[in-house]
Amino acid sequence: MKKLTVGVVGLGYWGPNLVRNFTDHDKFSVTWGCDLIDQNLDRAKKILPTIQVTKDFNELLNDPQLDMIAIATSPETHALLGKKVLESKKHLWIEKPFTTSLHDAQELLDLAKKNNLYLHVDFPFIFYGPVLKMQELLQSNTIGEPSYYTSFRTNLGLIQKNVDVVWDLAPHDLSILFHLFPNKKIVDVQTIGSTPISNGNTNQIANLVVEFENNFTAYIHLSWLSPVKLRLITLGGQKKMILFDDISPSEKIKIYDKSIQIERNDVTPFKPVYRTGDVLVPT
Ligand SMILES: NC(=O)c1ccc[n+]([C@@H]2O[C@H](COP(=O)([O-])OP(=O)(O)OC[C@H]3O[C@@H](n4cnc5c(N)ncnc54)[C@H](O)[C@@H]3O)[C@@H](O)[C@H]2O)c1
Repeated sequence: MKKLTVGVVGLGYWGPNLVRNFTDHDKFSVTWGCDLIDQNLDRAKKILPTIQVTKDFNELLNDPQLDMIAIATSPETHALLGKKVLESKKHLWIEKPFTTSLHDAQELLDLAKKNNLYLHVDFPFIFYGPVLKMQELLQSNTIGEPSYYTSFRTNLGLIQKNVDVVWDLAPHDLSILFHLFPNKKIVDVQTIGSTPISNGNTNQIANLVVEFENNFTAYIHLSWLSPVKLRLITLGGQKKMILFDDISPSEKIKIYDKSIQIERNDVTPFKPVYRTGDVLVPT
């Protein structure tokens, strides 16, 4: 079968990972790398000596042999570059966040549909083992009715100009939530953020609260200002709770057989009953 030829645009921090992963995959062949910075082009050549490199995005658009373009530039450029890819009748792979406005997202979706092209937004977590395990545990009703989701996604940096910590990090949690709960409707969203480090006009630390129907709420803390890296999700259920610690080298998922029931009777109208059982680490 003919391999799909790919060009990667944006070879800063994340783009080289795309070059590596597409190269390792037997269905893709990376033929182009594009960036505005010479050093980044040189680095791509070291990863894949056969890659053609350029600073001019139009060279990729004009190559009739190129099937797909992957955009890994900063978020505010996604809409414009993505539109040009689809207008040149090539499939589009685009990094999260897809676009920075709903209008742009809809325009790209419409264009892909009209031109009969694939449009893939890179949400890596929805293909990730621990998230698939959480999905399995939900579907098998192991934890009971889900009652809350919390996430701590913190690090020292990477502080970025013109990029908001919510746009940078929240897509990971939102993609996980939409994957785990495709049918749950959102009732309300609240965000509060701030820019404690000077010279910025975008949030560097923020809390996002997403309220779903049936009393299920996600609390997401996002920060580029933390001394420690945390990637810690808790999914609480009425019967059990799941902890997903992505920093842990092994044991990323733990199932805690813990829960709280509130008992009510005439004598004690509010009596919390705590239940503590085993902790299971699934393989
Ligand atoms: N899926 C993930 O888990 C994941 C992880 C990290 C970053 N990302 C996403 O990847 C994207 C890039 O992030 P990054 O941290 O690598 O940013 P970066 O700033 O390190 O790299 C972006 C690169 O794009 C280049 N660029 C900008 N405009 C260009 C143009 N018109 N033509 C060619 N090159 C151009 C810049 O020179 C720069 O080297 C962002 O959307 C980010 O959210 C995704």
